[in-house]
Amino acid sequence: MKITLRVKRFEAGRDREPYWAEYEVEAEPTDRVLDLLHAVKWHQDSTLAFRRSCGHGVCGSDAMLINGRNRLACKVLVKELGARITIEPMRGFSVVRDLIVEMEGFFAKYRSVQPYLIADGEPPANERLQSPEQRAKFDDTTKCILCGACTTSCPSFWSNPDYVGPAAIVNAHRFLFDSRDQAAEERLALLGDRDGVWRCRTIYNCTEACPRGIEVTRAIGEVKKAILLGRR
Ligand code: SF4
Ligand code: F3S
Ligand code: FES
Repeated sequence: MKITLRVKRFEAGRDREPYWAEYEVEAEPTDRVLDLLHAVKWHQDSTLAFRRSCGHGVCGSDAMLINGRNRLACKVLVKELGARITIEPMRGFSVVRDLIVEMEGFFAKYRSVQPYLIADGEPPANERLQSPEQRAKFDDTTKCILCGACTTSCPSFWSNPDYVGPAAIVNAHRFLFDSRDQAAEERLALLGDRDGVWRCRTIYNCTEACPRGIEVTRAIGEVKKAILLGRR
């Protein structure tokens, strides 16, 4: 089938305004949007810029706005979209070039929640034990691949870029609810401040956007509750 691919293009430092480029691509219904982008880059216009790495929904590098929704280009099939496909960079981040956005601020917020296990004291001889019930508390939030689809679909983030955002909260949740971790107090203090979880207005775009099916809004709600009740 013939696909018309409309891509919003812009190069910082060169273009004054973004503009639309249109490409005709021959594709199978089971091709992925990433295949279409490759077809353009490799055979029509090598200047088209986008990120990708694993090609299998694991690395999180190719999140973009596809027909108006944040998705991973390597996970969406042509047959789900039809013959006209529109692709734009994720919203709320500055565009470096075409579909590549500046993500340093996003990762700085991720690092700010200390997304690693903090456990003082002498480590046990073998491993830090945990029951299946304790593990289940944060199972969902271990699935994050840091694609940015949640944060860049959040209207609260669009209106206040200082909001720490759902992705950072998901990654804080993963350690806050880990029975082996001892840094809950510091993380909850950070998430309880003016740009923390209370910026979330329970809009749910983040949950809908997450390509890993993480219940993002529920995780944010659990963090809010932990701040209010002072316990996990
Ligand atoms: Fe991406 Fe989901 Fe992680 Fe957000 S929570 S960064 S949408 S994988
Ligand atoms: Fe934004 Fe998700 Fe909350 S879309 S407002 S972080 S529920
Ligand atoms: Fe890695 Fe799509 S290329 S998630």
